[in-house]
Amino acid sequence: MADVSTILNASRVIPVVTIDNPEHAVPVAQALVEGGVGIIELTLRTESALKSLQWIAEEVPGILVGAGTVLTPAQADHAAAAGAQFLVSPGVTPALLQHVLSLNLPFLPGVATVGEVMAVLESGLTAMKFFPAGPAGGPPYLAAIGAPIPQVQFCPTGGVSLASAPEYLALPNVSCVGGSWLTPKTAVEDQDWGRIKELAQEAAGLAVERPARTDASG
Ligand code: 3PG
Repeated sequence: MADVSTILNASRVIPVVTIDNPEHAVPVAQALVEGGVGIIELTLRTESALKSLQWIAEEVPGILVGAGTVLTPAQADHAAAAGAQFLVSPGVTPALLQHVLSLNLPFLPGVATVGEVMAVLESGLTAMKFFPAGPAGGPPYLAAIGAPIPQVQFCPTGGVSLASAPEYLALPNVSCVGGSWLTPKTAVEDQDWGRIKELAQEAAGLAVERPARTDASG
């Protein structure tokens, strides 16, 4: 089973994907893999999401498939049963956190405030989704959290784009970003798998430029 650092380091960008027609699920996942992105967060926002998740888990072995938009313990159970290898939530409640911890699956709980980061830290988790990243304050906000709480790694998601991703990825407390831009609704509906592959290639090619560390000890 993958651990959370495998999830965080699988790709610079975790595609956040919403699929209406489960027949599209496997070709979308294959196009992402062909473009160099070996991970997919499938949102539980459509009736057929669990079927899509299951088909990807069964038919695309080259991808790490997880469930996103996990709001309740029951959804977490259903996603795990369908083959999810990791779980992501937009926010977190004590009940959801406690339940997902008992499933022993890598989990990125959503946080947007310092208090929420501290509450999740108390449970022992040190990897979190920062959501909604843009509206909540973007890279300067994450940089500020990193001063008192450097031990948490974030996957900022929500309002992140190919253009804004490098600024997040340059931060020492950001391992990857998430975004829905790799799988535009029009490309999925038109079954334009070539377009999705191109968008994945662009994302996979993102360079990460971290500022050189200053070593106070000399
Ligand atoms: C999510 O659930 O993480 C967001 O819907 C993705 O946000 P984006 O559409 O702004 O990339």
